[in-house]
Amino acid sequence: MNQRTSSVKEQRLLQKAAKYMPGGSNGNMIHMDVVIERGEGSHVWDVSGNEYVDYALGSGPMFIGHAHPDVVKEVQERMTKSSTFFALVEPAIELAEEICSAMPCAENIRYASGGSEATLFAMRAARAYRGRDKIMKFEGGYHGMSDYALMSLAPSNPADFPDPVPDSAGIPKSIRDEMLIAPFNDLETTTALIDQYHDELGGVIVEAFQRVISPKPGFLKGLRDITSHYGIPLIFDEIVTGFRLSYGGAQSYYGVTPDLCSLGKIVGGGFALSAVAGKEEFMKVFDSANSSETGPMPQVGTLNGNPIATVAGLSTLRVLRETAGIYENTFAKGRRLQQGIREVLDKAEIPAQVIGHDALFDVYFTGDEIYDYRGTLKADKSKTIMLNSLLLERGIFKGETKFYVSTAHSDADIDFTLDAFNSAVGEL
Ligand SMILES: Cc1ncc(COP(=O)(O)O)c(C=O)c1O
Repeated sequence: MNQRTSSVKEQRLLQKAAKYMPGGSNGNMIHMDVVIERGEGSHVWDVSGNEYVDYALGSGPMFIGHAHPDVVKEVQERMTKSSTFFALVEPAIELAEEICSAMPCAENIRYASGGSEATLFAMRAARAYRGRDKIMKFEGGYHGMSDYALMSLAPSNPADFPDPVPDSAGIPKSIRDEMLIAPFNDLETTTALIDQYHDELGGVIVEAFQRVISPKPGFLKGLRDITSHYGIPLIFDEIVTGFRLSYGGAQSYYGVTPDLCSLGKIVGGGFALSAVAGKEEFMKVFDSANSSETGPMPQVGTLNGNPIATVAGLSTLRVLRETAGIYENTFAKGRRLQQGIREVLDKAEIPAQVIGHDALFDVYFTGDEIYDYRGTLKADKSKTIMLNSLLLERGIFKGETKFYVSTAHSDADIDFTLDAFNSAVGEL
């Protein structure tokens, strides 16, 4: 197995990044000294010419592989008509219709440019609809980088529920008072908190599949029931899961329909696009003609629903919709990869959990099963960082926290990855 080499060009670029960018990074993949040049299908290449099997998928958007010929062709054609107008364009309207036919909760949609924005607007829409301020989120749940979302995402010392722990410097103290934190997969505690705070709650936001932790049977249904009981809007953050767990996202996959959801990543085909989608009753707050108590809620963005991103999204969704067996085949490869990884770890007698879904999963170095964020805290994080770096040396490119499987991964990719994993674990 060839080990990666770093060229003079790459070293120079990394030095420049260190000089001009805080911490030498753009905030993503902060433990990785690599500069990527290009991608095709399931592979990426760095500027030194090293080739990798890619399980980062650009942090998820490139579900049908890099530079998919259909997406490239349609985007190139569309580019000749200019790239943005700050006005309605045909592909944005067509994509809105497609999203509404795919996602059970979606009767209306609004675009934004990134996932953080979409979740921010979804939370605001819920508050506007209900006329209350507090939002409940789950410990360990990620909803982007807004002041509201960065509460108890990854606390090293979690507080008692429902007190939030801010994850970032610079967040006003007052925001803490507006967020309530609940334990994922613990319906009893969550229900008790909602019973207690229902009159102050504007909404509840959840990743139905939290990071790589599956919901326990009944958890989402219970959450749906208690929020419906009090008339509290329920938001599924489907930035990761939308069009991935199934074409209809986590809400179709688990059979629980929220009131609102946020979408991003796959829906933009690798371009800057996100969306809030939901039932008309809740989405009405966005309508500028809504002069009721709950509206209007202005939502303006320079690149919202721009033609390039919406064409890329439409093209990506068409591939997913029209390719027979595309989900089953992808999931089967993901399953084989997970199974192989489990076997390598078992053989090496390393206590670890391989958890997630066939299309996205990760390895946690702990002997205990994981059901929530606190379970992940028991895992040895330094081993994960080391493993990722050993894998990179062996031609496997993955994010810090996930293996994302794409429709482009081949059986040969999976074999190669398992060999690399075996070798990396040997050195771990
Ligand atoms: C569940 C979830 N919500 C929101 C976001 C934020 O999306 P973005 O990085 O596009 O702002 C992410 C990003 O990974 C995510 O995984």
